[in-house]
Amino acid sequence: MERMTLLEKIGQMTQVDVHSLREGAVRRFGIGSVLSGGGGNPTPNNPEAWADMVQRVQREALESRLGIPLLYGVDAIHGHNNVRGATIFPHNVGLGATRDPDLVERIGRVTASELLATNVHWTFAPAVSVPQDIRWGRTFEGFSQDPAIASLLGAAFIRGLNGTGRPVLSSPKHYMGDGGTTWGSTRRYDWVQGWWNSDEPNRWQLDQGDLRTDEASLRKVHLPPYKAAIAAGALSIMISYSSWNGQKLHAHRYLLTDVLKGELDFQGFLVSDWLGVSQLDSNFENAVCLAVNAGLDMVMVPFEYERFIRAVEAGVGNGNIAASRVDDACRRILKVKAALGLFDDPFGDSALLSAVGSESHRAVAREAVSKSQVLLKNKNGAVPISPNVRRLLVAGSAADDIGLQCGGWTIEWQGGRGAITPGTTLLEGLSTMVSPGTSIAFQPDGVFGVEHGEVGVVVLSEPPYSEGEGDRYELSLPAEDVELVRRVRSQCDVLVLVIYSGRPLVIGEVLDSCDAIVASWLPGTEANGIADVLFGRRPFSGRLPYDWPETMDEVKVRSRRGHAPRFPILWPISYGLTTAGRPPD
Ligand code: BGC
Ligand code: BGC
Repeated sequence: MERMTLLEKIGQMTQVDVHSLREGAVRRFGIGSVLSGGGGNPTPNNPEAWADMVQRVQREALESRLGIPLLYGVDAIHGHNNVRGATIFPHNVGLGATRDPDLVERIGRVTASELLATNVHWTFAPAVSVPQDIRWGRTFEGFSQDPAIASLLGAAFIRGLNGTGRPVLSSPKHYMGDGGTTWGSTRRYDWVQGWWNSDEPNRWQLDQGDLRTDEASLRKVHLPPYKAAIAAGALSIMISYSSWNGQKLHAHRYLLTDVLKGELDFQGFLVSDWLGVSQLDSNFENAVCLAVNAGLDMVMVPFEYERFIRAVEAGVGNGNIAASRVDDACRRILKVKAALGLFDDPFGDSALLSAVGSESHRAVAREAVSKSQVLLKNKNGAVPISPNVRRLLVAGSAADDIGLQCGGWTIEWQGGRGAITPGTTLLEGLSTMVSPGTSIAFQPDGVFGVEHGEVGVVVLSEPPYSEGEGDRYELSLPAEDVELVRRVRSQCDVLVLVIYSGRPLVIGEVLDSCDAIVASWLPGTEANGIADVLFGRRPFSGRLPYDWPETMDEVKVRSRRGHAPRFPILWPISYGLTTAGRPPD
């Protein structure tokens, strides 16, 4: 640090979106970190191109005056999920249903190895949000509404990332209270170009909103996972867009500096969220001063990095930012880089490339899928289904759609539909389970013609979404989904319903018409793990990570008063029926 100029120290504090970098900027400014946001992919999108892209910017960092390696960050929140061909695990909501820290730790190790294969040393994960309102579009990123489960599994994931011999940096997020905001409290910032400025009455209403509660409940519900994460070795923490009682976390000196760095003795660095600093003030220089003085060490600018560097420089020049604050931020970042071994080897391990999306990695995902399935209803032992069933009807386009089973944050920020990346759909999984004498018919619209089926499987899905794009006031099944269930009901003896969703949904009348109902969450690429439990190759053992509502009626009443909403519960958290699995053959 003694050899560093002020501008070089500020460079370390700067994080830039890879597609906004101008040629030579990393070298010239000594940029400390580069990221790929959701969908920040190379062309073509494959593991080799990822490795090349990251290596290229890292090489440039090594050519800067002091040759300080940079930290490349991505959102690997359910596997290395921007990479076509990577292993995609269930989103955290499903892992919460497993209650299995050993499994989550192994998922952390596989994710770390797929990251290192592409020279990436940092993932903005795990989300240790404690969602209190399932209408939030990020409910699926949280493990559970219960802070104890978020703490247990968040820590397990961090241990996994650190457990491969070469540690990968985690960023538990979003500190803190992101899951406790009030409907309608999201602010708009006309000076920032962000999605959240949408005027859609049903979007961006909870996400980035305001948590209205006293300090005791803030500490009880939202702080525990950070204590657990720090104990597990987390060395960076991402700050939340949201506010606490009207004050933005990005400018919250008490919660960032006094609580995290003081009381909890956090030794790593704090990183801001995408454009989060820009939101603080229409005057960018003021915004930067507020954030840095509150305790932010690295800023995900992510576009206009030169403007950011100049803003910090000006702040130090006019005394609004203490030079010692910049020193502290820079020292924290360099210490983490040293702890990750970047000064010895700034690249990853190309020998791991051939294992990205390998059989053995996918086997871990398949196991996770099986363990995350929650059996909500099972009348007369409808499942397990016998492999000797003569005619099996499969309906719903989601039964054969990789994109829908993966959800948001897959290949693109908002996810996508169809064959967005290699994997196994439930339809493919089912067809490997049945006996040679079974005939399987698949009709997305559920119209099968004359022949009756012994068993029907209907797969429903929420559309993919991420962040406030998924905020949704009403969580009832759409009318066409109800109609699809009705149609298939009349064509089979036993009806099994599988639901892909990032949260519990209000299922209404289909509760009575289905014999078995399975909450599948967002399973990722290996949907054969669902077939495993449907056919009894493995037992059903998942338990609800969130209360499952019967209606949303009471929400409307309470949320107007600004309370965490409560609604009539159909199945409480931890509910889940079990079956006996057959040993795999
Ligand atoms: C999200 C973060 C994410 C970041 C980078 C933000 O919009 O809130 O969770 O890490 O983008 O993609
Ligand atoms: C980026 C995401 C980011 C989001 C925030 C998108 O354009 O790809 O990474 O989280 O913007 O608004």
